[in-house]
Formats: sequence, structure tokens, C-alpha cells
Amino acid sequence: MKPLVVAIDGPASAGKSTVAKQIAKDFNYIYVDTGAMYRCATLLAERNHLAFNDGKAIVEVLKNGNLTFRQEADGQHVYFDDEDITLAIRMPEINAHVSEVASLEEVRHYLVSLQQAYGEKGGLVMDGRDIGTCVFPNADVKIFLVASVEERAERRHKENLEKGIPSDLEQLKVDIARRDHLDETREISPLTKAKDAILVDTTGMSIEDVVAKIEGIMKEKEE
Ligand code: CDP
Ligand code: CDP
Repeated sequence: MKPLVVAIDGPASAGKSTVAKQIAKDFNYIYVDTGAMYRCATLLAERNHLAFNDGKAIVEVLKNGNLTFRQEADGQHVYFDDEDITLAIRMPEINAHVSEVASLEEVRHYLVSLQQAYGEKGGLVMDGRDIGTCVFPNADVKIFLVASVEERAERRHKENLEKGIPSDLEQLKVDIARRDHLDETREISPLTKAKDAILVDTTGMSIEDVVAKIEGIMKEKEE
């Protein structure tokens, strides 16, 4: 069967990475978390004391190292060179600046080129904001996942507490709504549903149900 390119887009905490990882596992596909790439750019900007609007300088530090995803016993980890940055990129100060960094043309141009290179052979699930509209406009399967802000904040809050990440539910609602707004209204590749993407509203849906729905769509495509 033909290895597919599956694009999963949607707002913060809609469940994109959770379902994308499961689908990649079930189909033996590569999973690429593009949000982690923008988060890495933001972490590097912070550590190097760069202005969060200085796209040129941020791309320079990105190019000075290697951003990689590695499969480990407890799941996928994100590395920049030899440092495991999986947890560091989820901290509140990164949430606060990532949408600004992700709005920079130089940063998007560079990271999109890395993302497109992953898709050359198919057999890929990629999640983000612009995968179906910009990174892979010809993806075999395009999904747009949504859920209410309340449910998304509650999901993220629970996840943060489990991972030991500082979390405040009311602050999360504000942060998620603010990031959605920035992502939807930015000039370059804003968060929007591709015309040919399938909308899946996951409010009240379990992870298993969402995975089953998307895998059903993929199987139809494969045939
Ligand atoms: O996991 P969560 O939904 O909180 O966010 P993420 O997927 O890790 O993405 C973090 C931020 O990166 C988003 O709020 C967007 O501003 C940006 N992003 C983007 O612009 N384009 C992508 N393809 C992926 C993420
Ligand atoms: O990648 P994205 O930001 O869209 O969301 P995520 O990190 O996959 O999901 C955020 C949290 O919601 C995770 O803790 C998931 O386990 C949870 N979740 C859920 O409870 N029900 C769903 N249908 C999907 C995700």
C-alpha cells in the first residue's frame, strides 16, 4: 500500500500530537511535531538573549545546531544537538513567546524547508498549523482538529500537572485563546482549515475515537 502523507492541523491542545503519535505508531509512519520546532526556535532566542522579532538572528542560531527527534522508551524526545529540550520547550515562558517567533517570515521559511524534506518518501504524519495549507498542500489526508477552548485548557492543565509543568487553568484558557488569535490572524500561513481538510470536532470525544476516525479516513485513501 502507498505510504501516505497525513497533515493534522488545528488550534492549541486540540489533541493533534496525541492522535498523530498513535496513528504513526499504528501505521509505522514517522511523526513530526512542527510545533516543537517553533518552540525550539523560541527557546534558542530566549537563551541567546535575542529579540523575539529578530528572525534573521534566530535562524542563524537554529542553523548552528541540529534539531532532531529521537524515539526513546517513553516516547519521542526533541534534541538540539546533544541536549534533550523536550521539557524545556513546554515551559510557560516559551508558550508566552512562541506565537510571536512563529510569525516571523525567516523562521517559517527555514523550518518549513526542514519539514518538507521529511515528507519526500511519504509514510509521515505531521501536525501543526499550516501543514495542509502550506507545508504539504498536496497531502493525501488532511485533518483539521478542533475542540472548545474550555475543554482544550482542561486537557492541557491535566497534562501539565502529570508532567510536573507549572499550570494554572484560568491562565491556560487566556494563553490558549491568545495564541489561537495570534495564529489565526498572522500574515504568513495563518492557522486556517484547508478547503479540502476534513473537520473533526473532538469536544467530548475520546482519544481512541478520534484516532479510529482518522485511521478510517486513511484506510479509505489507501485503497
Ligand atoms: O501543543 P500546542 O498546541 O500548545 O502548540 P504547538 O503545536 O507546540 O505549537 C506552538 C506554537 O507554534 C503555536 O501556537 C503556533 O504559534 C506555532 N506553530 C506554527 O505557527 N506552525 C506550525 N506548523 C506549528 C506550530
Ligand atoms: O498537539 P495538541 O496541542 O493539539 O494537543 P495534545 O498535546 O495532543 O493534547 C492535549 C491534551 O489533551 C493531552 O494531554 C491529551 O491526552 C488530551 N486529549 C484528550 O484528553 N482527548 C482528546 N480527544 C485528545 C487529546
